[in-house]
Amino acid sequence: MPAQFAVRKIRPADLDRVLEIERASFSVDAYDRNLFAEHLDASGDLFLAAERAGSIRGYLIARARGRRAELVSVAVDPAARGAGAASAMLESALRRLRARGVKRLFLTVKTTNLEARAFYAKYSFRCVRRAPRYYEDGSDGWRMARKV
Ligand SMILES: CC(C)(COP(=O)(O)OP(=O)(O)OC[C@H]1O[C@@H](n2cnc3c(N)ncnc32)[C@H](O)[C@@H]1OP(=O)(O)O)[C@@H](O)C(=O)NCCC(=O)NCCS
Repeated sequence: MPAQFAVRKIRPADLDRVLEIERASFSVDAYDRNLFAEHLDASGDLFLAAERAGSIRGYLIARARGRRAELVSVAVDPAARGAGAASAMLESALRRLRARGVKRLFLTVKTTNLEARAFYAKYSFRCVRRAPRYYEDGSDGWRMARKV
């Protein structure tokens, strides 16, 4: 039986835990505290946490602009992966985006990130184009999109 996660909006006091998950998930590509603080100000109710047993297990950030939105980042504590945390956050984000009238959700993923690509494929994201040297380490990304 899959574990249940509660999804809620991130609060300023959650940033330490978000940074912990970030550093465990993305080495050189990890966002810093300032960037998360900006997202906290700008993303409204689209900077989400997945909680289980009173502890944050993952976060997701989306940004909406008119009828389009960007899935900026999603990460789950390595110890909590494979239990539905990212799914719960994505489903919550999609409901919130629908309520705002957003029609399409875009993202970029490293071509080598097979776990994330499997996750996005399960949620019907399709590759729209390759983004050469999109990442700081020179690696390519895939731009992906789905209907909201
Ligand atoms: C990608 C990530 C967010 C998925 O989080 P998660 O909570 O483990 O995902 P879920 O448990 O909700 O998985 C949902 C589906 O995604 C796919 N999936 C997730 N992890 C997978 C893996 N390691 N291998 C293959 N498929 C995987 C499966 O289809 C899974 O469905 P299933 O459980 O019915 O098989 C997580 O692996 C992560 O934090 N990775 C590091 C950060 C990262 O790369 N983020 C994306 C940047 S673009």
